[in-house]
Amino acid sequence: MIRLRDLHKTYDSRHVLRGLSLHVEPGEFVFLTGPSGAGKSTFLKLLYAAERPSSGEVWVNGRRVDRMSRKELPTLRRTMGVIFQDFKLLRRKTVLENITFVLRFHGLGQKEAHRRAYLTLKRLGLQHRQAAFPDALSGGEQQRVAIARAVVYQPRLILADEPTGNLDAELAAELMSLLCEINYQGATVVVATHDQGLLESIPARTLVLHHGTIQYDGNWPP
Ligand SMILES: Nc1ncnc2c1ncn2[C@@H]1O[C@H](COP(=O)(O)OP(=O)(O)OP(=O)(O)O)[C@@H](O)[C@H]1O
Ligand SMILES: [Mg+2]
Repeated sequence: MIRLRDLHKTYDSRHVLRGLSLHVEPGEFVFLTGPSGAGKSTFLKLLYAAERPSSGEVWVNGRRVDRMSRKELPTLRRTMGVIFQDFKLLRRKTVLENITFVLRFHGLGQKEAHRRAYLTLKRLGLQHRQAAFPDALSGGEQQRVAIARAVVYQPRLILADEPTGNLDAELAAELMSLLCEINYQGATVVVATHDQGLLESIPARTLVLHHGTIQYDGNWPP
């Protein structure tokens, strides 16, 4: 599903990633951890081609992502659900519209889009906020809308950047069970987090990023 070959990423003179090579099989659940500034978000951005590597190769689902033209990116991103660290919700759309928008983009009819969006919101305990605009929501509520939007169309690959950063323990556990369920149904899931509690909440392959390289790749705790 994901293959990285000798990946380097430099911002100005800052060497953030220094030669990452990695393989993630379809259907794997992987945690990506490491201290703040280690390059976790950068790593995910390279996978959905929001950033280009300075050198090396990024392959997702058999396709070379770092060489894709701008025109090819929507097709790539249609196969992924991304939960951004800063949510990126559409401010002028309601909670429900933020989610149906994605489904309509994937070609679903209005009625089915509403049905699926509502079910996902309910699963995340947000159905009573469906008519609200993002600015009227708490951080945790916005995060759950971002999660609902990423998982609602059942993508093959889910990339989540600190998805529980604004959630209390109970909601974080509910999110993890949702991600596990999606993974069980066959999706590949990559979760970037520096939350130790989250890492320990489910046994999964864990990559530790440090000084631009993968310092550890295996089960957690080691
Ligand atoms: N667009 C950019 N321009 C310049 N430097 C950047 C840019 N994006 C990230 N960086 C730098 O790259 C390094 C890695 O950032 P990144 O956001 O990937 O870290 P992170 O592991 O996700 O951290 P956090 O846990 O705080 O989210 C940081 O030093 C950051 O300042
Ligand atoms: Mg980050």
